[in-house]
Amino acid sequence: MPRRPIQDSDREAIAEFIEHHWHGRKVISRGKAYYPHQEEGFVDWRDSKIVGLLTYIVHGDAMEVLTLNSTLKGEGIGTALTLMAIDHARENNIKRIWLSVTNDNLPAIGFYQRLGFRMVQVNIGAVDKARKAKPQIPDVGHHGIPIHDEIVMELPVKPLTCRQT
Ligand SMILES: CC(C)(COP(=O)(O)OP(=O)(O)OC[C@H]1O[C@@H](n2cnc3c(N)ncnc32)[C@H](O)[C@@H]1OP(=O)(O)O)[C@@H](O)C(=O)NCCC(=O)NCCS
Repeated sequence: MPRRPIQDSDREAIAEFIEHHWHGRKVISRGKAYYPHQEEGFVDWRDSKIVGLLTYIVHGDAMEVLTLNSTLKGEGIGTALTLMAIDHARENNIKRIWLSVTNDNLPAIGFYQRLGFRMVQVNIGAVDKARKAKPQIPDVGHHGIPIHDEIVMELPVKPLTCRQT
């Protein structure tokens, strides 16, 4: 199956994929550093290449999506990986899924809203702070927008219900 949960044999390739897409193996969310290749997630392999990756970490009854990337945009990979994470959360009694996006990332903000995520918090200056620990974070992002803040987006996970007719 090309799209599946991460296995230990994927981890070195995932580390390289993260390094390429996130300016290094470390990502910073809400001031905390994580190494996504060491965490759980879902990966999409095509012809021995990773074309999609979602990594997450569970904090109590909440799942934080650390990273999501698709290299073949608009083919449904990002949606499919996010739906896999939502199903996994539901099966494991996780109550909400949240993530942070940078203020410039209008494509991702639109993508997540279409999946039902809401913007629940803005951490003003969070990226400026993160840049001190990870200077590779660019100053300017999508559409020439200066990157300063983190927007937290969240989706409540609805339990499955059985309806009798
Ligand atoms: C955000 C991101 C993960 C979306 O991934 P993606 O694989 O392009 O997402 P999808 O293909 O599932 O959906 C994107 C669009 O393609 C459309 N689409 C989905 N399947 C499609 C198909 N088979 N044919 C044509 N279009 C399709 C979706 O409807 C959506 O269109 P819209 O934006 O006009 O509504 C991707 O753009 C990305 O890697 N961004 C860089 C990293 C990033 O910002 N990550 C998020 C922060 S963690």
